[in-house]
Amino acid sequence: MNHYQLLVIGAGPGGYTAALQAAKLGLRTAIVERREVGGTCLNRGCIPTKALLHAAQIYHEAQSGGEAGILAQDLQLDLPAMFAHQRKITETLRSGVEGLLRNAKVELIPGSAAITAPNTVQVERDGERRTFTAERILIATGSEPAMPPIPGLELAMTSDQILQGMDRPYRSIVIIGGGVIGVEFASFFRQLGCQVTILEGLDRLLPNLDRELGQNLAQLFKKQGLNVYTNAMVQAVEPGQDGLTVRFQGKTGPGAATAEKVLCAIGRRPAWAGLFPGDLQPETEGRRIRVDSRFATSIPGVYAIGDVSSTIQLAHVAAAQGTACVNLMWGKPVGMDLSIVPSCIYCRPEIASVGLTEAQAKAAGIPAKIGKCTLFSNARTMIANPGRSFIKLVAHSETHEMLGAQLMCEHSTDMISQISLAMANHLTAQQLLLAMRPHPTFEEAMADALEDLIRKLG
Ligand code: FAD
Ligand code: NAI
Repeated sequence: MNHYQLLVIGAGPGGYTAALQAAKLGLRTAIVERREVGGTCLNRGCIPTKALLHAAQIYHEAQSGGEAGILAQDLQLDLPAMFAHQRKITETLRSGVEGLLRNAKVELIPGSAAITAPNTVQVERDGERRTFTAERILIATGSEPAMPPIPGLELAMTSDQILQGMDRPYRSIVIIGGGVIGVEFASFFRQLGCQVTILEGLDRLLPNLDRELGQNLAQLFKKQGLNVYTNAMVQAVEPGQDGLTVRFQGKTGPGAATAEKVLCAIGRRPAWAGLFPGDLQPETEGRRIRVDSRFATSIPGVYAIGDVSSTIQLAHVAAAQGTACVNLMWGKPVGMDLSIVPSCIYCRPEIASVGLTEAQAKAAGIPAKIGKCTLFSNARTMIANPGRSFIKLVAHSETHEMLGAQLMCEHSTDMISQISLAMANHLTAQQLLLAMRPHPTFEEAMADALEDLIRKLG
């Protein structure tokens, strides 16, 4: 039978989480995927980048006499082994997701899907077309690297290409874009000993995050020998004698940076080309498919979640939206506060952020106080020596409820969840400080920052 209660298009973290939730509710569910199960996150995003960053950090420390280098200083760079390690992790996780779908009796339909009529999906594979019908269709087709019409940009690589494997270490690289992908790849290449130049069009690295995070990271990068140019809007990429030259418009005039390779990391665009081949077309917001608060598109029975429709393109957002969307479709409670979105960057030290920054609270007219602590004297930070580290906390001046946090320190990508938890449950700074922190941990600095915050709250 080719009829389902829910047919999901795209098996990334959004799509497969939604399909598993639908199966849990006892619904007859299918998921169409044209590439590998796991989507961008598992195959070309979160997981492969973190596997490579981890390996590169071990190599770097061995070379530089850091943590691992105390014990071993003669580690050789073995790129094939590094990429094989990354592939092994990806493959293991991918087969885990495939197993979950199988066990939940979600039908996995390989091929490329198109919505050809209301409640109708056509799936094409190797020239063969099959038609399916569904009570509800969920679009979870994700995103792909944005490549705007900048002359010569086709000479640059995307993250997708790098993650397929490198045949040799690069001597130098120019990274266009000082956002999340740019910063993570800058850390990776620097740790491999490559000369890195970052060109960011706006006035600081990570311009979507708290100003202090981007500014501190730029300082740290410069100390490590990276070239960081901000207010540098890239306008062209040209082949040259020594590789590629990237031309940009700087604050004081035109500039150029040359390197063996160029990485383009200037955002990702929603991927839904070819999904609506006929007259049926969804309403859009920019390039995103427009959805309402229940994830419904303008076409009855068609919903969208994740990178294809979301303003925030993160794996955990896609997954949370997937579960919420299915729950809402079948009248169940959402079960999660979708407005509290932690965001993490896996450079060193790690960066993590949630909720409001000081500037955002001010702009919104919310009375707020800031608590802060640096981790100079934190024992675990001294041992790991990741570079300048700090914690910044934001609380409401009157209610003392936590409003946000910006962390730049080791383990911050795990630590941030206690602030998300506090925000979701409207906990105050005083309530957060009630818990004893184990010693020695990076976490102890959270108590120091909370004490500072409570002092300021009065
Ligand atoms: P995707 O994961 O993009 O999956 C969409 C799937 O749909 C794909 O498998 C695609 O093949 C399939 N598809 C598309 N069209 C069709 C069609 N017509 N028919 C059938 N199948 C189709 N996020 C984090 O939270 N943390 C990170 O550390 C992180 N690191 C990242 C690093 C990099 C280099 C990149 C590029 C992204 C990273 N992200 C990270 C972002 C994260 O990968 C995405 O936000 C997430 O994968 C989006 O999930 P999704 O389910 O919406 O779409
Ligand atoms: P991004 O939006 O984070 O950063 C792109 C940067 O490029 C911006 O700072 C922008 O100002 C700059 N830019 C744009 N045009 C430019 C030009 N012509 N010249 C110079 N700079 C220019 O996008 P990015 O880094 O490509 O990442 C895409 C998405 O992937 C992000 O939205 C993020 O959510 C997700 N991601 C998440 C990760 C994580 O959670 N750790 C890791 C990697 C990606």
